[in-house]
Amino acid sequence: MAKEKSLDLLLTVEWKDDAVVLIDQTKLPNKMVYVKCTDYRQVADAIKSMVVRGAPAIGVTAALGLALAAKQSKAKSMQELMTDLDTAFKVLRATRPTAVNLFWALERVMDKVKGVKTVEDAKKAVLDEAIRMAQEDIQANREMGANGAKLFKDGDVVLTHCNAGSLATVAYGTALGVIRATREAGKRVSVIATETRPVMQGARLTAFELQHDGVDVSLIPDTAVGHMMARGVIKRVIVGADRVLRTGHVFNKIGTYQVAILANKHKVPFYVAAPLSTFDFESNPEDVVIEERSIDEVVKVGRKRVAPKGVRIFNPAFDMTPPELITGIITEKGVLKPPFEKNLKALLG
Ligand code: MRU
Repeated sequence: MAKEKSLDLLLTVEWKDDAVVLIDQTKLPNKMVYVKCTDYRQVADAIKSMVVRGAPAIGVTAALGLALAAKQSKAKSMQELMTDLDTAFKVLRATRPTAVNLFWALERVMDKVKGVKTVEDAKKAVLDEAIRMAQEDIQANREMGANGAKLFKDGDVVLTHCNAGSLATVAYGTALGVIRATREAGKRVSVIATETRPVMQGARLTAFELQHDGVDVSLIPDTAVGHMMARGVIKRVIVGADRVLRTGHVFNKIGTYQVAILANKHKVPFYVAAPLSTFDFESNPEDVVIEERSIDEVVKVGRKRVAPKGVRIFNPAFDMTPPELITGIITEKGVLKPPFEKNLKALLG
């Protein structure tokens, strides 16, 4: 099992032997299988089919996909190389619409080749930048963890939704990174993970990776959140994000909004952990495309159909939590408190 060396954690995405190596998350928790991509189109398929998922992991994987496209290219001139990279950029960009890290990562790599004179230098620049982004992701998660750990107390029972852990990043995680850092700081925290219907990232991935790392974790159905809060079991909530707007609106896995409303009702602090690569400084709430996924995810439980044929289905994969429901947004540069727009400006100087 590949592990991030210094952290002894799962390594979700890696550049190895001139290929992009991914943990196949569709097979977890039953099988630990690695997928080796040697063509950028395989990388695009892996993102689309959720072999790799989670905003920061998608971003870094797409960047490494561009590195593969550069490597595959037979271009003799910079112009030909840019045409090949642009084709790959468009294919990778069209994989999933909501997590902003995907667009941020692809644009950052493309920017790096602008002005480079030779094909050889450009190919190297693309790969170097993508690998740098993978390293920076772990570093940002570590810093977020240190910033967030101060907000959690010994004995806290923390609810998380979806998977914002090692498996959603290169390693360590955003929301689960904060939980790891809290435990590393000597505080005992236990986690309640929601199943996260319909793709079950909570049951399949969060429960798996926390158990793998020896973190105390219990699993509940999504529908039990209100009950657990009303009973006073949950002391804090922490989730990740697919996109954070400058206004503090947070787009995350479908169901996050419900959890935030319940937390507000029961006066449970609701935190979001997101690196700056997940911030979208330009869009307004209505500009963000919410991915609609296959109805199969809803009508079936496992392979068995549970809904009648012909029924109308909606399957939005993300929702938006408004800033007034959020206690704080934990970033690698510090913890943002409301009013987010003003405090974000101050945080970024
Ligand atoms: O559809 P997914 O599994 O890619 O959705 C993932 C999430 O919503 C995560 O909470 C989010 O990407 C944060 S990951 C650090």
